[in-house]
Amino acid sequence: MTNRPVPLISAIEASRVYRLSGEEIHAVRQASLDILPGRFIALVGRSGSGKTTLLNLLAGLDRPTSGQVLFEGRDLARFGERDLVELRRHRLGFVFQSFGLLPLLSAYENVELPLRIAGVDAKARSSRTSEVLEMVGLLRRARHRPYELSGGEQQRVAIARAVALKPPVILADEPTGELDSTNAHAIFSLFQEMVHRDRLAIVATTHDQTLLDLADEVHEMHDGSIRSLRTLASDSPDEMFKPPASRKTVDATKPVGTVRS
Ligand SMILES: Nc1ncnc2c1ncn2[C@@H]1O[C@H](COP(=O)(O)OP(=O)(O)O)[C@@H](O)[C@H]1O
Ligand SMILES: [Mg+2]
Repeated sequence: MTNRPVPLISAIEASRVYRLSGEEIHAVRQASLDILPGRFIALVGRSGSGKTTLLNLLAGLDRPTSGQVLFEGRDLARFGERDLVELRRHRLGFVFQSFGLLPLLSAYENVELPLRIAGVDAKARSSRTSEVLEMVGLLRRARHRPYELSGGEQQRVAIARAVALKPPVILADEPTGELDSTNAHAIFSLFQEMVHRDRLAIVATTHDQTLLDLADEVHEMHDGSIRSLRTLASDSPDEMFKPPASRKTVDATKPVGTVRS
């Protein structure tokens, strides 16, 4: 009997079939995956391989056609509206591929909104909002609205918003898709640092192979099926808290804020 921590999210043979004018598309086929605290998981695969569909299932934004997705041991299919609202507000941050920023709000207001909704008091809200904008290197752009920002900058605002409330798990769909390689590396390094400092879990999809050495685990999607390319050597509780030897360390003195795109 090991003291393996309860996964934040578990997919158990989860499948998602889309039915489109009589045709069946098997977007995700019997995918099983455990997302443990303190892990940075990269999900790779070509376009159309099922990454977004799987991420949506893990987030409870979509339901598996068969199989299950558990959040902290509870079947997401049994979550009521209120549970789902609670999940999205406090337990799970999602970075959409299309960013999902509110166009009439500034970068600052977009990031602040989830804190406001969660009832964080004004002082804490303002310091946390500035902190996360600084983390993604956008404090200077705080007053700008999304249309006044580049795609890469919008992407970083979306990331800042997702991490603002420090949810235990963050799911990010191609969070570096709009970024050049330097910025992409900086964002993955930021994720790596957050995971190891705050022991949260991040699952990020990417098709950029150069980012993979920053992740603790790499899983590949191919035609809807998932296959592990790399996981931590040991899942024993002692090993869990040690960074694996292969892990590249992040220079915490170097802010991601130097990053531009
Ligand atoms: N809403 C949908 N209706 C029908 N087919 C879909 C839908 N969303 C995705 N698909 C199909 O499911 C497969 C996986 O898509 P997706 O999860 O978006 O892949 P990826 O994110 O890896 O590019 C693709 O063949 C795609 O065309
Ligand atoms: Mg996708």
